[in-house]
Amino acid sequence: MLRYFPFQQQFNDKMGTMPLLPADPLVEADEHYVSELALKRRLLTELPDYYFQALPGYHTAQWEVLALVLESLVQNYPEHFCLTQTVDHWHWQNHLLNEEAVFTFGDAATLPLEPLDWVGRQVQEDLLLLAGDAPNLVAGQLCFGNGWSLNEKLGLSFWQLHGPVTSVVQPMMQAAQKLMERLPAGRPVCRLNWSIKITDQPDLTSRHTAALNQQLAHLLPELNPDNIGQHLFVRIERQTLTRLPHSGAVLFGIHTYQNRLAHEIIDPERALRIRQVLSTTPPAMLDYKGIIPFLEPLLAYLQLSERKLSEKSIH
Ligand code: HEM
Repeated sequence: MLRYFPFQQQFNDKMGTMPLLPADPLVEADEHYVSELALKRRLLTELPDYYFQALPGYHTAQWEVLALVLESLVQNYPEHFCLTQTVDHWHWQNHLLNEEAVFTFGDAATLPLEPLDWVGRQVQEDLLLLAGDAPNLVAGQLCFGNGWSLNEKLGLSFWQLHGPVTSVVQPMMQAAQKLMERLPAGRPVCRLNWSIKITDQPDLTSRHTAALNQQLAHLLPELNPDNIGQHLFVRIERQTLTRLPHSGAVLFGIHTYQNRLAHEIIDPERALRIRQVLSTTPPAMLDYKGIIPFLEPLLAYLQLSERKLSEKSIH
């Protein structure tokens, strides 16, 4: 089952940010760590300029991200990761991947890659950096993007990044814009985003969109309330926003979790909650999320599951 289930009584038209408490990990390592890291590294080897991009001049911010991420891993998973710092000499050990690295903090020549690119290969999260007043997307490693890519978005302001959704959820995006401008250092936040997909392929960056649309066209005629739970996947993004104290840039981390829909519908309450959210989501948002083509059998499946699971719990 997914560790996050952001479905309540209705569609949440607020930005849904919560404080990230000191005990909450900035980055999370789960049972998919090894396989997702292998996939990330393969993608980055095959198409390095597609999955990692950085505008020149944000080195302080990139090193700040590296430090935050490694320290978070060590603090939350000391059995898997170890960091020894002697002045600026850092010794990193990753027991899950069985590898280690030695470098001088702040000295680019001692790392084989840009700091953000290097540290992105230690975590399941996609890591994006925003800087300036707008703020603009200035660097990122994005392997598991949901329908977007760095090619389309690098350099854009927060408002421009959200071009397809600003009119759909305008008050939410205005509040988010203010948050991006005013987020204080030392007060990180997190939020959950959801979508429903016909695949659990982690990399849904936009180079895959045409193939996915084709896959959907083939699948659609087969979908019905009895089989749709096996064909669809719930995709949850745990997103964190952290102001970096020295550079003033903002780190945006995205951890993507997914599971087969049928495996999430384990009691009537969960079926009801997803159905309530879908039934109250504005049509333009359902359209944006690509759910409209299979909405009808999906709602019927959820209603059916609710009834069946309620009957089962009574008997
Ligand atoms: C509180 C902060 C944020 C809020 C409330 C927010 C909200 C949203 C919403 C509602 C969507 C539509 C996706 C969906 O609901 O399935 C979206 C998409 C997106 N967000 Fe954000 N977002 C936030 C932060 C960020 C940041 C920091 C970035 C920086 C990279 C970002 C980049 C994107 C992109 C690229 C998309 C896809 C747009 C497209 O389809 O072209 N978001 N966001």
